[in-house]
Amino acid sequence: MRFGSAAAIVFCLASFSAAAFTTSQADRGLLAYERSCSKCHQSDLQGSQESEAPALVGDTFAAHWAGEPIGELVDKVATKMPADNPASLPKTTYLDIVAYLLQANKVAPSSEELDGKPESLMRTIPGRMPAAR
Ligand code: HEC
Repeated sequence: MRFGSAAAIVFCLASFSAAAFTTSQADRGLLAYERSCSKCHQSDLQGSQESEAPALVGDTFAAHWAGEPIGELVDKVATKMPADNPASLPKTTYLDIVAYLLQANKVAPSSEELDGKPESLMRTIPGRMPAAR
């Protein structure tokens, strides 16, 4: 059983170098998101008209981020968010939150945490590609 799932993970990693984060990292990210982000983007990540914070899941997220390197999203969040106190969180917390955002957008987790190394940040955010611009 354990051997089978480990083999499946190895197979996935070998087949494409997609986003890498673990479920426990995404769980930490969820807690940090609730503390620092949910008042504008909401606990369900649907955003809010009142704060003009966009949805961070679904079509809006895919249209903005699918096909982009993870580093773009990390930069955006780490330099501009929370909008009322930008760049106020530790770098590792931003990475955890991005792991949570990827998980919320149904990106498959892996056995590796998302770290700040260039080779990790160069990986592409999977998902539907935006319609032709
Ligand atoms: C005070 C309200 C507020 C808080 C708190 C806040 N945001 Fe935002 N966020 C915004 C607004 C407004 C925008 C749209 C303007 C922009 O993109 O800079 C935005 C945009 C974003 C975007 C870009 C979305 C897109 O697809 O264009 C991301 C990603 C994001 N926020 C993540 C976060 C994260 C993660 C946190 C917590 C660390 C956070 N935000 C906290 C208001 C907020």
